[in-house]
Amino acid sequence: MVAAIVTLVDGTPPADMAVLLRDPADSLRRGGLVAFPTETVYGLGADAMSTDAVERVFRAKGRPADNPLIVHLADVSWLDRVVADVTPLATRLASTYWPGPLTLVLRAAPDVPSVTTGGLDTVAVRVPGTALARTLIAMADTPVAAPSANLSGRPSPTSAAHVAADLADRVDWIVDGGDCGVGIESTVVDARGERPVVLREGAVTREMLGDVGSDRDAVGRSPGVRHPHYRPQARVVIAAPTTGVATANGLAARGRTGLLAPDDRGLLADVQVLGTPVGAAETAASLYAALRRADLLALDTVVVEAISEDGLGRAVMDRLRRAAGHEG
Ligand code: TXA
Ligand code: MG
Repeated sequence: MVAAIVTLVDGTPPADMAVLLRDPADSLRRGGLVAFPTETVYGLGADAMSTDAVERVFRAKGRPADNPLIVHLADVSWLDRVVADVTPLATRLASTYWPGPLTLVLRAAPDVPSVTTGGLDTVAVRVPGTALARTLIAMADTPVAAPSANLSGRPSPTSAAHVAADLADRVDWIVDGGDCGVGIESTVVDARGERPVVLREGAVTREMLGDVGSDRDAVGRSPGVRHPHYRPQARVVIAAPTTGVATANGLAARGRTGLLAPDDRGLLADVQVLGTPVGAAETAASLYAALRRADLLALDTVVVEAISEDGLGRAVMDRLRRAAGHEG
């Protein structure tokens, strides 16, 4: 099998979108695998209510079976399809942040297959931020389970080319909607209690959520946090702020080295610049592409400067530490 590709450009009118998405949506309805862009990263979608379809997702990615999937909804009104108990907190967070990069963990409705929830009694749900994703899901008329569309353990894909590099011969369709704007995955919060408990950092920051509960209140950590993630083949070295150039120059004698930096100022000639601008939002948007580029260039080591751990910076540093193999 080789994936069929459908390409939508920014500003594709809704009527054309519906025509272009008809075959991918049909494929989802029939149990197929469809990779599609969200505002965070590309997802590998399957009918969340079909055990067979979701099992195909796990096989395609090589994903551990105890790591549950996020179920994507076309609209907040779909919550009742998969959630048994929509808490007041969930209603408030959904009305503030959906569509958008926030995933809510809630008690699962009984008909959500256990393969989707990793055998838990909870389900993770979100309404994605792109009209393309919401249209696709609405046309499929079923909740869509979608992990990031990468081989398990690899950096998440932020373009259709990244998806194709990992999964071209393992999926039915790739919907190409250009580069993802956010670039790192959604924030995952447990929304069963009175206050949100952050299970995975993301673009909806702790500052935005306000009064968050302590992690000790979480009944279980997000299962995915236990598994290796976001790893390029190259070794990732986190340098202290402002020391990236010196660190990369120092490592260059020992192997092919790259630096995530906006330009080559001060770098030895054989150090590769991986073109990540400064600032948390820009770093988030280009981090995974830079890590994948390091592998295409067959680098041994990638140096990244640490950024300040507030706002989106906390999520960026979380992903960087995982890429560097400092698993929690
Ligand atoms: O931005 C995103 O969230 C992207 C796009 C495609 O929506 N999806 C994504 O999915 O990152 P994935 O499978 O790579 O990560 C899902 C995370 C994992 O850490 C998983 O353990 C957690 O959500 N998760 C899923 N269901 C859960 C549950 N019932 N309880 C706790 N954590 C859960
Ligand atoms: Mg993932």
